[in-house]
Amino acid sequence: MRPLHSSLVTLGLSAAVVLGLAVLTPVAVAPSAHAQAPNGAALYNAQCKSCHALSGKSGPAGPSLKGVAGRKVASLGDYKYSKGLTAKGGTWTDAALDAYLANPGGYAPGGKMFNKVPDPKARAAIIAYLKTQP
Ligand code: HEC
Repeated sequence: MRPLHSSLVTLGLSAAVVLGLAVLTPVAVAPSAHAQAPNGAALYNAQCKSCHALSGKSGPAGPSLKGVAGRKVASLGDYKYSKGLTAKGGTWTDAALDAYLANPGGYAPGGKMFNKVPDPKARAAIIAYLKTQP
């Protein structure tokens, strides 16, 4: 009686473990697939590169973004900034870049960049990418 009972318990337990794994596996996979961070470099190339260079030289339409993280706002000598952005002043901290990319016209009224990045995760990824371009 006893051995049978305990082996039934063991069977039941291993079935529970197997079932548990079967149930848990998709749950364990889902967050990593979901948490897949947007690709900052790809976003930059798609949304910024047409106007901004990372080479250190400004153009085609905007100031160079090489080393922009931590740089003083509107501080490059080879680019003619708007009065709006120049008047804004300050430093391109993460928070400042985030606010600017969310709504450039709201951050620096009278500025001449109009491209918005509405998705906070996309902004974070782009900012992280800019930090890899000192
Ligand atoms: C259609 C052209 C265009 C696109 C696209 C564009 N920008 Fe700009 N950006 C500008 C212009 C023009 C300025 C100068 C703004 C001013 O003087 O008011 C600027 C200024 C900036 C500045 C301020 C730099 C400094 O030296 O103070 C940052 C940061 C910036 N852009 C980031 C981005 C990012 C990141 C993207 C992509 C998500 C992007 N921009 C897309 C045209 C563009």
